[in-house]
Amino acid sequence: MAIDRAAPIGVFDSGVGGLTVVRALMERLPLESIIYFGDTARVPYGIKSVPTIEHYTAQIADHLMGAGVKMLIVACNTMAAVAADVVKARAGDVPVLDVIEAGAQAAVAGTSGGAIGVIGTPTTINSNAYARRMHELDPSLRVYSQACPLFVPLVEEGWLDHPVTRLTAEEYLRPVLAEGVDSLVLGCTHYPLLKALLQSVAGPQVRLVDSALTTAQAAAEWLAREDMARPSGSVPAYRFQVTDIPLRFQTIGERFLGRSLGAIDKVDW
Ligand code: DGL
Repeated sequence: MAIDRAAPIGVFDSGVGGLTVVRALMERLPLESIIYFGDTARVPYGIKSVPTIEHYTAQIADHLMGAGVKMLIVACNTMAAVAADVVKARAGDVPVLDVIEAGAQAAVAGTSGGAIGVIGTPTTINSNAYARRMHELDPSLRVYSQACPLFVPLVEEGWLDHPVTRLTAEEYLRPVLAEGVDSLVLGCTHYPLLKALLQSVAGPQVRLVDSALTTAQAAAEWLAREDMARPSGSVPAYRFQVTDIPLRFQTIGERFLGRSLGAIDKVDW
């Protein structure tokens, strides 16, 4: 079946964090409609097992395919790390982009000294997905990975510039910075909100790679190349779907998105 260029882009995540990718997409592709799916009932994914994440990811991919999207974007680093193939297997002709592919490519293209740090959830780091992909692109690279499980709750608490978050960052980044990395990949949806703090802990010589921005760029390039972008004058529609609406979702979501969320629909499987 032919893909409709007017159809929305489907973006999904374990919860609210993928809104950092939506924010980057809204800025980079202001004419595109977006349907966002956050599995707020089952978040966090970053400490769950691979089979469980594969199972949840398949359900979400099927749901968004049923909504007739023209592209699927795996905004969750944890899902991209362990279940990107599950999504591709269900997407048919619909292209699948993910934060790990975009982030790995940007990190490899921008490294000056060949030493790259990666931070993410325990499941993302244990999967070694970023390091594997970067080594495929350049086998001579040195990649140093560090799981940072406390960052997700700290960001959701809004402690973006808090002494506790700074101490935590200093502790997590110490071994990676000791290796003299020139780039640091923010391998989790939540970490772009900590950019200012992480930059000050890492120092100005370390380039932060924001996979939300690089994913939006990759989406723009694909749409232009395949002539699938919406024409000028199009008015975008944004839909937000979640599996549960916790009290704090709207507040936290608006912090991630940098604007008001509007209506949020609860999906019943
Ligand atoms: N969205 C997840 C990620 O980017 C972080 C939150 C979670 O653990 O589910 O890895």
